[in-house]
Amino acid sequence: MPDLDFVQQDFQRRLRNIPPLGMGLSVDVYSPNLFELVNKLKELGLQPGYLEVFKASAASLTTVRRAVPDIPLAYHGEGLWITQPDVQESPFFQQDVGETVTQLNSIQSLWLNHECAMKQMAGYSFGTYVPPLYTQLSAEVVAANITTVQQAIDLQGRRADGTAPLFLLEMPPLTYFSAGTIPIPHFFRLVTALVPCGLVLDIGHLWTVYRYTAASRRISLERFVGEFLEEFPLERVVEIHVAGLACHESVGESKGREGLPEWIDAHAAPIPSILFTILEQVLAHSNLVSLRAVALEVDTKPIEMIVEEYAEAVRRFSFLIQQTIARGTAVEQSMELTPHPASVQEPVCQSDRQQLRDDYARYAQIISGQAPMTGQEWQETAVEATGVTRYRTSYVPYEILHWGGDLAEMFPQTCRALAGRDVSLEEFVAFWFRSPRPLTHSYDFFLLKIERFLEFVAERAPDVRVCAQQECDMLRQAYAQANEVVEPVMEMERSR
Ligand SMILES: [Fe+2]
Repeated sequence: MPDLDFVQQDFQRRLRNIPPLGMGLSVDVYSPNLFELVNKLKELGLQPGYLEVFKASAASLTTVRRAVPDIPLAYHGEGLWITQPDVQESPFFQQDVGETVTQLNSIQSLWLNHECAMKQMAGYSFGTYVPPLYTQLSAEVVAANITTVQQAIDLQGRRADGTAPLFLLEMPPLTYFSAGTIPIPHFFRLVTALVPCGLVLDIGHLWTVYRYTAASRRISLERFVGEFLEEFPLERVVEIHVAGLACHESVGESKGREGLPEWIDAHAAPIPSILFTILEQVLAHSNLVSLRAVALEVDTKPIEMIVEEYAEAVRRFSFLIQQTIARGTAVEQSMELTPHPASVQEPVCQSDRQQLRDDYARYAQIISGQAPMTGQEWQETAVEATGVTRYRTSYVPYEILHWGGDLAEMFPQTCRALAGRDVSLEEFVAFWFRSPRPLTHSYDFFLLKIERFLEFVAERAPDVRVCAQQECDMLRQAYAQANEVVEPVMEMERSR
C-alpha cells in the first residue's frame, strides 16, 4: 500500500492548480438552454463563478467554451464505470477515456468529475446509476481504475503550464437501497488513501444515504451528518453539489415508517430547504480545507426556478463559501511539498478482480429480482428489505419500459401487435435481465433498448419481427440525425 503522505502530497500538488471558484452551476448543454440561462443570470448581476458542464457532443462543448470565455469551466463525465473490476478489459474503455480527455481539453476543464457508480455491471445494463458495493475490495478496484484514468489525463490532457485536470470522485445517491460490508464514509477514506483524487460531496446524495440506510431508524439527521463528516475524508472534498430531491413517478408521494419522504436524487425538482441546513453544517466543519467550488446542479430544471434558487443560494451562502475556501487556501500555502513523481498504486490481482466480478453479477441479479439476497454484503440490506423491493418491483420496470424512451411510444405498431397476441410488455423486463450479454458499443441506453426489444420480439412474436425492424430502423435513423443536428446552443449563439 502506498504511503498515505505520499498520496496526500500528490493530491495537494494537483489541488494547487485549481483556483477558488466560489458558487456556480452544474449544467447540461441542452436542457435548459444554457445561454438563455447565463444571460438571464448576468442581467440580474448573478454571473456564476463557474459552470460544470455535463458530457455533450464535441461541437456543443467547443461552442460553450467560445461563448462564455469569461467563465471558468469544469467537466461532469459519464460512462467510465470505474467501479467495475473488468472495466479496463472492456473493448470500449480506452476509447471512452480518450473521448473524455478530448472533452476535458476542449473546454479547458479544471477537473473531471465522475460518479462512483455505474449503469452497467457484469453484462447487465440499467438506465440510471446504481451505487458500488461498499466493500474494501471494491474500494481498491475503484482506486486502481481512477489511477488509470488520471494517468491518461496526465499524458493526454496536460496543459501548457504542465498541469492537468484532477479526477474528482462523486459519492453517488442511494435509490432506495445500498449494499456492502463497510460504512460508506469509510469506503471513500480507503479510496483516497490509495489515490490522489479529489471528491465531490453532493448534499442531496448525502440525504439519501441517511434515508436509505439504518441511520434513519437510529439517529436524527443532524447527528447522522455530524458522524458521517467525522469519518468521510472531508479534506479531499474539492466541490460540493446541491440538487433537488423528489419522489419518483413510479412510486408516488409516499412516506416510510420513519415519516421521511421517499425522495431520490432529482435534478429537475426544487431543492428542499433541509439540504441548505445540511450545507451549513458541512461548510462549518473544520476538516473542509480543500474546497474550491459549490454548484447547484440544475440540468433539466426550468430557468425561472434555477434563477430563483441561485439568487437565494448566493444571498445566503456566497460569503460563507468564500470564507471556507479562504480558510483552506491559507493552510495550503503554508504547506511544504517535496517534489515527487505522481503516486502509483499497485494493481489489484486477477483473483480479487474475479471475486468482485462475481459479487457484481450477483448484485445485478438481486436488484433485478433474479436471485435471493444472499452474501455478506446483503446482510444488512436484507434486514429491512422494503428499499430493495421498491427498486426491483417499481423503479427498475419503469426504467426498462418508460425511462429514456417509452416503449409504447417508440414502437407503437409493434406494441399493438404484441398486445393482440397477449404478449405483455412486463415480460420484456424479465427478458432484459434473463442473462448477461457482452457489450456491443459504448453505453447508450436508448440504442440498447432498441436492440434488446428487437430480440425480445423476435423470440416472443416472430411474426411481428418485420414490423419491429421497420420501427427500429426509423428510430435509429432519427436518433443519429438528432445527434448530428445543429445544436440548440449554436442556434442560441447565432441569435445573440
Ligand atoms: Fe451531483
